[in-house]
Amino acid sequence: MPDPNRFGRLVLDWFDRQGRKDLPWQTDPTPYRVWVSEIMLQQTQVATVVPFFERFTKRFPDVKSLAEAQQDAVLHLWSGLGYYARARNLHRAARQVLERHGGAFPLDFKAVMALPGIGRSTAGAILSLGAGQPLPILDGNVKRVLARCLAIEGWPGKAAIQERLWSLAERFTPRARTAAYNQAMMDLGALICTRSSPLCPDCPVSGLCLAQGRGEQNLYPGRRTTAPLPVKAIRMLLVRNGQGEILLEQRPPSGIWGGLWSLPECPMDEEPPLLLAHCYGLKGGIARKHPSFRHSFSHFHLDIHPWETRVSGGPSGVMERSCLWYNPQNPEQLGLAAPVARLIHSANEHKGVPHGQNGALRQTEKGG
Ligand code: ADE
Repeated sequence: MPDPNRFGRLVLDWFDRQGRKDLPWQTDPTPYRVWVSEIMLQQTQVATVVPFFERFTKRFPDVKSLAEAQQDAVLHLWSGLGYYARARNLHRAARQVLERHGGAFPLDFKAVMALPGIGRSTAGAILSLGAGQPLPILDGNVKRVLARCLAIEGWPGKAAIQERLWSLAERFTPRARTAAYNQAMMDLGALICTRSSPLCPDCPVSGLCLAQGRGEQNLYPGRRTTAPLPVKAIRMLLVRNGQGEILLEQRPPSGIWGGLWSLPECPMDEEPPLLLAHCYGLKGGIARKHPSFRHSFSHFHLDIHPWETRVSGGPSGVMERSCLWYNPQNPEQLGLAAPVARLIHSANEHKGVPHGQNGALRQTEKGG
């Protein structure tokens, strides 16, 4: 792990040489002006924000003028910046500052965090840049710089990774010149340690950067991953009687397709003719396999292998299992499981099963 003091010195030296020092909110950086700028800079680039910031602070130079404005006037000056909830929160927060703090922007971290639209990083930015308090920040740019320098694996949106980054931000943020350090970290992230193709030769901390040393800049910060869903496979039995009717079985009331009508299922390691005989009292004829297809639920994939046969013999055992013979030519109004409806429809229309490109059909269903 790089030495935080050395890291801080390199960042601050770089700030003195190359950091941005003439942005409009950096001249007369009151908490109010820094607050407005930080809200505008959320999800928006500096170059876009500058003219909006200048117009906005000219019209609303302090908390009181903003709090007393009509919301329409505030939104009008925000128009073109997007994400209008930011403007509504800013306006609501100004009114709270007027009511609860007499119009003076609070300098207490908890009081700032309590205002609408202000999270931990924004509160840290306002109080460090606008009031010289030694508080860390952790916006997207800073997360990227820290994740790369310290080779922090995992997606920063995950609570545990975020906590780790916060504790590192606390360790690495110097207590002296915190404003300059925080501004430098944001600038480094925005200008040098960019998401793709970072300019490592221009970076003051590239010599300490673990990702750079390993040539693994593009592995950090980690991307959001979704664990692969488990895959289950079953055979669905498309069983026709002499009249061309299809055997349906009602699903148990809970679980996937609870209470819906479906086709009899046969585990992949069992023989369908034996299952038909034992469980349904039916004797199958020649079997025909159809191409398999995947039906996806939110929590697993179901690979369905349709297996068709025509049966002779009575439906004696069938009736004990909450089954019926379904006439696809003259269908009853039944709740059918979605892939079953498509399978039956397709088998009937085309005397085949549904197939998409390359015979692979994918269907997705939420929940179970
Ligand atoms: N993004 C968020 N806050 C910023 C700031 N103060 N300077 C530059 N970019 C920023």
